[in-house]
Amino acid sequence: MAAYEYLGMPREEIDTPVLLVELEVLEANIEMLARHFRESGKHLRPHTKSHKTPAIAHKQLEAGAIGITCAKLGEAEAMAQAGINDILVANEVIGPKKITRLMSLARHCDIMVAVDNPENLAQLEEAAARAGVKPRILIEVNIGHNRCGVAAGSQAAVELAKAAARCRHLRFFGLMGYEGHVVDLEDREAREGGARECLQRLVNTRADIEGEGVAVQICSASGTGDYYLSTTYAGITEVQAGSYALMDVAYGKLDLGFGYALSILTTVVSRPSPERVITDAGLKALTPEHGLPLVKDHWELECHALSEEHGRLRTRQGTSDIPVGAVLEFIPGHGCTTVNLYDQLHAIRKGRLEAIWPVAGRGKSR
Ligand SMILES: Cc1ncc(COP(=O)(O)O)c(C=O)c1O
Repeated sequence: MAAYEYLGMPREEIDTPVLLVELEVLEANIEMLARHFRESGKHLRPHTKSHKTPAIAHKQLEAGAIGITCAKLGEAEAMAQAGINDILVANEVIGPKKITRLMSLARHCDIMVAVDNPENLAQLEEAAARAGVKPRILIEVNIGHNRCGVAAGSQAAVELAKAAARCRHLRFFGLMGYEGHVVDLEDREAREGGARECLQRLVNTRADIEGEGVAVQICSASGTGDYYLSTTYAGITEVQAGSYALMDVAYGKLDLGFGYALSILTTVVSRPSPERVITDAGLKALTPEHGLPLVKDHWELECHALSEEHGRLRTRQGTSDIPVGAVLEFIPGHGCTTVNLYDQLHAIRKGRLEAIWPVAGRGKSR
């Protein structure tokens, strides 16, 4: 059957396991964050690494996002192919093969990439000159996450920004930092205190660079767990939050006001005892590295383990009368890596299938 022949089908009749998005919740999440940015006067550049789905990116742009963020060049290519123009790859683009791809992409969208070392900057400048394009550059600053980035507050950060600003074929736009070690901390005080330290490092580094006469237009940071802090800093211009759109169990624990839009529909395949429920969604249908899934609308059931192809549930108390053949929904522990297991996202409104969206960025880790 062609995909359109499934549209209108009740959720329970879709074959499982299948990845679902609840449109009412997705749209409410997108609107809630968009409103915050309208009111704060700052820019949102949502990270699409979570949903990897151009249809959702377009909704975010329509709601006011200034552009999008991608983790990888391959994701950016998929988004550009879907008609999106303003794209930040919040990552270093290293090696001749990828640099060539980046310069090609620069002909089709207004791409911006992170740089954290002078050799890479020189290679990008040379490749841009050869290709006759002018991609935008942000210097990535290590503000405490200790992943990529030139050290915050260092002379090296200032020198790199000056070198970027001197490039004739790259357009230096500013800085990015990411406080990924604190954005999802459940303890609010620890999360906010940690984030403030990191964000202060970023704005101090911005001041160092501007103190040397180099103009910074963009200063980008933060995720779903601390976006509301970033928007209080005069020196930060935009935010890269992404998980807020779909959400997952890990971020749900932070009580941020976003709803669970993402789920995996799964069928009960066995009832080995009155306390045990076995379903057809396991490790190949959802990822557990940030915790096991919740069973939506059945809080009396607990998922205690995932095998490759089975979800293993037990009752929290007493027994369950859920029959074999019933369908349940898992809210995944980690949305970003779960979505990466699917080619399509089935969009549900009022209990019926409204659209089937390609997850175009799925597996685009190159
Ligand atoms: C560079 C970068 N920016 C922003 C984010 C924000 O994502 P989230 O909304 O999941 O907190 C991430 C997440 O991994 C990231 O790697």
